[in-house]
Amino acid sequence: MTNLYDLGFLEGIIGETIVSTYDVDGQATAAPMGIVVESNERLRIRPYTSSLTYKNLQANRCAVVNVTSNPELFYLTAFKESNTNRKLSLELFEKAEMVDAPRLLAADAIIEVLVAETGSFSPERAEFLCNVQLVKASKALPTVYCRAQFATIEAIIHATRIKPFLRGNKQEQKHAFRLLELVNVCKDVVNRTAPNSRYSEIMAELHQRISLWKNESESLR
Ligand SMILES: Cc1cc2nc3c(=O)[nH]c(=O)nc-3n(C[C@H](O)[C@H](O)[C@H](O)COP(=O)(O)O)c2cc1C
Repeated sequence: MTNLYDLGFLEGIIGETIVSTYDVDGQATAAPMGIVVESNERLRIRPYTSSLTYKNLQANRCAVVNVTSNPELFYLTAFKESNTNRKLSLELFEKAEMVDAPRLLAADAIIEVLVAETGSFSPERAEFLCNVQLVKASKALPTVYCRAQFATIEAIIHATRIKPFLRGNKQEQKHAFRLLELVNVCKDVVNRTAPNSRYSEIMAELHQRISLWKNESESLR
Protein backbone atom coordinates (compact mmCIF):
# COMPACT_ATOMS: atom_id res chain seq x y z
CA MET A 1 0.00 0.00 0.00
CA THR A 2 1.27 3.55 -0.79
CA ASN A 3 2.60 5.36 2.25
CA LEU A 4 1.03 8.65 3.48
CA TYR A 5 4.53 10.14 3.61
CA ASP A 6 5.04 9.26 -0.09
CA LEU A 7 2.11 11.60 -0.80
CA GLY A 8 3.92 14.52 0.85
CA PHE A 9 2.19 14.45 4.23
CA LEU A 10 4.44 15.30 7.18
CA GLU A 11 3.55 14.70 10.81
CA GLY A 12 1.97 17.73 12.47
CA ILE A 13 1.81 19.76 9.26
CA ILE A 14 -1.46 20.62 7.57
CA GLY A 15 -1.94 19.15 4.09
CA GLU A 16 -4.80 20.61 2.04
CA THR A 17 -7.09 17.94 0.60
CA ILE A 18 -10.70 17.38 -0.45
CA VAL A 19 -12.80 15.20 1.87
CA SER A 20 -15.69 13.33 0.26
CA THR A 21 -18.67 11.86 2.12
CA TYR A 22 -22.29 10.80 1.61
CA ASP A 23 -25.01 13.04 3.01
CA VAL A 24 -28.16 11.80 4.82
CA ASP A 25 -29.85 11.14 1.46
CA GLY A 26 -26.89 9.08 0.24
CA GLN A 27 -25.81 11.88 -2.13
CA ALA A 28 -22.07 12.16 -2.79
CA THR A 29 -20.52 15.45 -1.74
CA ALA A 30 -17.06 16.86 -1.04
CA ALA A 31 -15.30 19.86 0.48
CA PRO A 32 -11.70 21.04 0.84
CA MET A 33 -10.31 20.28 4.32
CA GLY A 34 -6.90 20.58 5.94
CA ILE A 35 -5.60 17.23 7.20
CA VAL A 36 -3.02 16.61 9.93
CA VAL A 37 -1.23 13.29 9.74
CA GLU A 38 -0.34 11.72 13.06
CA SER A 39 1.29 8.55 11.77
CA ASN A 40 1.10 6.41 8.64
CA GLU A 41 -2.13 4.91 10.04
CA ARG A 42 -3.84 7.95 11.59
CA LEU A 43 -4.91 11.43 10.55
CA ARG A 44 -7.12 14.24 11.84
CA ILE A 45 -9.87 16.13 10.01
CA ARG A 46 -11.06 19.42 11.56
CA PRO A 47 -14.33 20.61 10.02
CA TYR A 48 -16.34 23.60 11.20
CA THR A 49 -19.45 22.27 12.94
CA SER A 50 -21.50 24.42 10.54
CA SER A 51 -20.24 22.39 7.55
CA LEU A 52 -22.07 19.57 5.81
CA THR A 53 -18.87 17.50 5.98
CA TYR A 54 -19.04 17.65 9.78
CA LYS A 55 -22.63 16.34 9.78
CA ASN A 56 -21.78 13.57 7.33
CA LEU A 57 -18.71 12.47 9.30
CA GLN A 58 -20.78 12.39 12.49
CA ALA A 59 -23.49 10.32 10.83
CA ASN A 60 -21.44 7.92 8.67
CA ARG A 61 -18.13 7.74 10.59
CA CYS A 62 -16.07 7.44 7.39
CA ALA A 63 -14.78 9.47 4.44
CA VAL A 64 -12.30 9.59 1.60
CA VAL A 65 -9.44 12.10 1.75
CA ASN A 66 -8.67 13.03 -1.88
CA VAL A 67 -5.22 14.34 -2.79
CA THR A 68 -5.06 16.87 -5.63
CA SER A 69 -3.45 20.19 -6.50
CA ASN A 70 -6.08 21.06 -9.11
CA PRO A 71 -7.56 24.52 -8.26
CA GLU A 72 -10.72 23.70 -10.25
CA LEU A 73 -11.54 20.80 -7.91
CA PHE A 74 -10.92 22.99 -4.85
CA TYR A 75 -13.15 25.70 -6.33
CA LEU A 76 -16.05 23.41 -7.32
CA THR A 77 -16.09 21.65 -3.95
CA ALA A 78 -15.60 24.78 -1.80
CA PHE A 79 -18.33 26.74 -3.65
CA LYS A 80 -20.96 24.19 -4.68
CA GLU A 81 -22.99 27.08 -6.18
CA SER A 82 -20.29 27.47 -8.89
CA ASN A 83 -21.33 24.08 -10.39
CA THR A 84 -23.98 23.61 -13.08
CA ASN A 85 -27.34 23.40 -11.23
CA ARG A 86 -25.45 24.71 -8.16
CA LYS A 87 -24.68 21.10 -7.17
CA LEU A 88 -21.64 18.82 -7.49
CA SER A 89 -22.09 16.45 -10.44
CA LEU A 90 -22.37 12.80 -9.44
CA GLU A 91 -20.07 12.05 -12.38
CA LEU A 92 -17.18 13.41 -10.33
CA PHE A 93 -17.42 10.41 -7.97
CA GLU A 94 -17.19 6.65 -7.69
CA LYS A 95 -17.83 4.50 -4.64
CA ALA A 96 -14.86 3.88 -2.34
CA GLU A 97 -13.53 0.33 -1.91
CA MET A 98 -13.22 -0.11 1.85
CA VAL A 99 -15.54 2.51 3.38
CA ASP A 100 -19.07 3.74 2.74
CA ALA A 101 -18.07 7.02 1.11
CA PRO A 102 -17.56 8.39 -2.41
CA ARG A 103 -14.17 9.21 -3.87
CA LEU A 104 -13.19 11.76 -6.50
CA LEU A 105 -12.33 10.15 -9.84
CA ALA A 106 -9.93 12.99 -10.72
CA ALA A 107 -7.88 12.76 -7.49
CA ASP A 108 -4.16 11.99 -7.78
CA ALA A 109 -4.43 9.79 -4.69
CA ILE A 110 -7.14 8.72 -2.27
CA ILE A 111 -7.06 7.80 1.42
CA GLU A 112 -10.07 5.88 2.72
CA VAL A 113 -10.64 6.42 6.45
CA LEU A 114 -12.88 5.34 9.31
CA VAL A 115 -13.57 7.70 12.23
CA ALA A 116 -12.06 6.32 15.45
CA GLU A 117 -12.68 9.26 17.84
CA THR A 118 -14.58 12.54 17.78
CA GLY A 119 -13.52 15.57 19.79
CA SER A 120 -13.43 19.34 19.72
CA PHE A 121 -10.58 21.36 18.17
CA SER A 122 -11.99 24.83 18.96
CA PRO A 123 -15.44 26.27 19.84
CA GLU A 124 -16.36 26.27 16.14
CA ARG A 125 -14.44 23.24 14.92
CA ALA A 126 -14.71 19.53 15.65
CA GLU A 127 -11.86 17.08 15.33
CA PHE A 128 -12.19 13.56 13.90
CA LEU A 129 -9.31 11.17 14.55
CA CYS A 130 -9.41 8.69 11.67
CA ASN A 131 -7.87 5.29 10.98
CA VAL A 132 -6.50 4.82 7.48
CA GLN A 133 -8.01 1.81 5.69
CA LEU A 134 -6.59 2.20 2.19
CA VAL A 135 -4.16 4.49 0.34
CA LYS A 136 -4.04 4.47 -3.47
CA ALA A 137 -2.12 6.73 -5.82
CA SER A 138 -2.36 7.25 -9.57
CA LYS A 139 0.75 7.22 -11.73
CA ALA A 140 0.47 10.94 -12.48
CA LEU A 141 3.56 12.53 -14.02
CA PRO A 142 5.46 15.13 -11.98
CA THR A 143 4.06 18.62 -12.54
CA VAL A 144 5.90 21.92 -12.77
CA TYR A 145 5.49 24.43 -9.93
CA CYS A 146 3.03 27.09 -11.09
CA ARG A 147 2.52 30.17 -8.91
CA ALA A 148 -0.94 30.81 -10.32
CA GLN A 149 -2.13 27.33 -9.37
CA PHE A 150 -1.15 27.77 -5.72
CA ALA A 151 -2.23 31.42 -5.56
CA THR A 152 -5.69 30.35 -6.80
CA ILE A 153 -6.03 27.66 -4.11
CA GLU A 154 -4.81 30.14 -1.47
CA ALA A 155 -7.44 32.67 -2.59
CA ILE A 156 -10.19 30.02 -2.47
CA ILE A 157 -9.26 29.21 1.16
CA HIS A 158 -9.45 32.91 2.15
CA ALA A 159 -12.73 33.37 0.27
CA THR A 160 -14.42 30.53 2.21
CA ARG A 161 -13.80 32.52 5.43
CA ILE A 162 -14.68 35.96 4.02
CA LYS A 163 -18.38 35.09 3.62
CA PRO A 164 -19.06 34.14 7.29
CA PHE A 165 -16.79 36.92 8.64
CA LEU A 166 -18.63 39.60 6.65
CA ARG A 167 -21.80 38.53 8.44
CA GLY A 168 -20.14 38.60 11.86
CA ASN A 169 -19.32 41.27 14.45
CA LYS A 170 -17.04 44.30 13.90
CA GLN A 171 -13.89 42.31 14.70
CA GLU A 172 -14.81 39.54 12.26
CA GLN A 173 -15.61 42.07 9.56
CA LYS A 174 -12.17 43.60 10.02
CA HIS A 175 -10.73 40.13 9.55
CA ALA A 176 -12.82 39.69 6.38
CA PHE A 177 -11.24 42.85 4.92
CA ARG A 178 -7.73 41.63 5.80
CA LEU A 179 -8.51 38.36 3.99
CA LEU A 180 -9.82 40.32 1.04
CA GLU A 181 -6.45 42.08 0.78
CA LEU A 182 -4.77 38.65 0.67
CA VAL A 183 -7.15 37.54 -2.10
CA ASN A 184 -6.15 40.65 -4.05
CA VAL A 185 -2.46 39.75 -3.67
CA CYS A 186 -3.24 36.25 -5.02
CA LYS A 187 -5.25 37.77 -7.88
CA ASP A 188 -2.28 39.93 -8.81
CA VAL A 189 0.04 36.87 -8.92
CA VAL A 190 -2.48 34.95 -11.07
CA ASN A 191 -3.04 37.81 -13.49
CA ARG A 192 0.71 38.31 -13.94
CA THR A 193 1.75 34.66 -14.27
CA ALA A 194 -1.35 33.14 -15.92
CA PRO A 195 -3.39 35.80 -17.72
CA ASN A 196 -6.38 34.54 -19.72
CA SER A 197 -6.28 31.13 -18.04
CA ARG A 198 -8.83 29.08 -16.10
CA TYR A 199 -7.00 30.32 -12.97
CA SER A 200 -7.64 33.98 -13.85
CA GLU A 201 -11.27 33.08 -14.61
CA ILE A 202 -11.69 31.48 -11.17
CA MET A 203 -10.12 34.57 -9.58
CA ALA A 204 -12.57 36.84 -11.43
CA GLU A 205 -15.51 34.66 -10.32
CA LEU A 206 -14.24 34.77 -6.71
CA HIS A 207 -14.01 38.54 -6.92
CA GLN A 208 -17.62 38.73 -8.14
CA ARG A 209 -18.81 36.46 -5.33
CA ILE A 210 -17.02 38.56 -2.72
CA SER A 211 -18.58 41.78 -4.10
CA LEU A 212 -22.02 40.15 -3.83
CA TRP A 213 -21.40 39.10 -0.21
CA LYS A 214 -20.21 42.62 0.61
CA ASN A 215 -23.39 44.12 -0.85
CA GLU A 216 -25.54 41.57 1.00
CA SER A 217 -23.86 42.25 4.34
CA GLU A 218 -24.14 46.04 3.84
CA SER A 219 -27.85 45.77 3.06
CA LEU A 220 -28.35 43.77 6.30
CA ARG A 221 -26.89 46.65 8.37
C1 LIG B 1 -7.75 24.45 0.78
C2 LIG B 1 -8.92 24.61 1.72
C3 LIG B 1 -8.84 24.06 3.00
C4 LIG B 1 -9.94 24.12 3.87
N1 LIG B 1 -9.85 23.54 5.11
C5 LIG B 1 -10.95 23.49 5.90
C6 LIG B 1 -10.90 22.78 7.15
O1 LIG B 1 -9.89 22.22 7.56
N2 LIG B 1 -12.04 22.75 7.89
C7 LIG B 1 -13.20 23.36 7.45
O2 LIG B 1 -14.23 23.25 8.13
N3 LIG B 1 -13.25 24.05 6.29
C8 LIG B 1 -12.17 24.13 5.50
N4 LIG B 1 -12.23 24.80 4.32
C9 LIG B 1 -13.48 25.47 3.93
C10 LIG B 1 -14.54 24.47 3.46
O3 LIG B 1 -14.05 23.64 2.43
C11 LIG B 1 -15.77 25.23 2.92
O4 LIG B 1 -16.32 25.98 3.97
C12 LIG B 1 -16.81 24.31 2.31
O5 LIG B 1 -17.79 25.11 1.66
C13 LIG B 1 -17.50 23.40 3.31
O6 LIG B 1 -18.39 22.59 2.57
P1 LIG B 1 -19.44 21.61 3.23
O7 LIG B 1 -20.41 22.48 4.02
O8 LIG B 1 -20.09 20.92 2.07
O9 LIG B 1 -18.70 20.67 4.13
C14 LIG B 1 -11.13 24.79 3.45
C15 LIG B 1 -11.19 25.37 2.17
C16 LIG B 1 -10.09 25.29 1.32
C17 LIG B 1 -10.20 25.90 -0.07
